[in-house]
Amino acid sequence: MRPSALEKVFEHAEAAFRSAPGIPPGSESLADRVWTALKVPSEQEHVIDPEPQALPVCSFLTDALQDSIALGGPISDLAMAFQDLALELCWERRRNAETGPGAFFHGHANAVLAGPNGLERRNDVVAGASLMAPGVRYPDHRHPPEEFYVVLSPGQWRQGDGSWYEPGPGGVVHHPPGMVHAMRSGDSPLLALWFLWTKD
Ligand SMILES: [Fe+2]
Repeated sequence: MRPSALEKVFEHAEAAFRSAPGIPPGSESLADRVWTALKVPSEQEHVIDPEPQALPVCSFLTDALQDSIALGGPISDLAMAFQDLALELCWERRRNAETGPGAFFHGHANAVLAGPNGLERRNDVVAGASLMAPGVRYPDHRHPPEEFYVVLSPGQWRQGDGSWYEPGPGGVVHHPPGMVHAMRSGDSPLLALWFLWTKD
């Protein structure tokens, strides 16, 4: 059984994606696969149920959601649904974060909503959230699965050595397979949900 708070986040994430201004070309077919898969809750059991866990950066969550909530519409519904789910999530630092700058180590957290180690255990989609304190840069990284983000706050993204750009709350970011990418927060905290297709 999928918890209703998680169900609401997936429903509102799809609605927010579909109403986003300027959906990046190439992200629709990935998103269709993701939304179709997520309509069917996984029946996989956890060996050990994930326990909720907060990190110090979680104190920025309310701040990170305020712009989306103020916008109204689907992104606001998503922000409020996420606020209800956030306390159930296991927020963790990125693997090897201790080798990065101290501001990053203390200023970020990720939580997995769906995936092999997610709140919902499944193998086709990995879905999660990233939260960053103001003034933090997430390291360049890449991964074979294609990915899109639904953005809930101010903050900037870039691909490769390209220029930084700000999708804004309600915006969508898309990264083709293997593309190097990064994100950074400015004066406000950054919050985004990310979705990867990992089946093929
Ligand atoms: Fe990524």
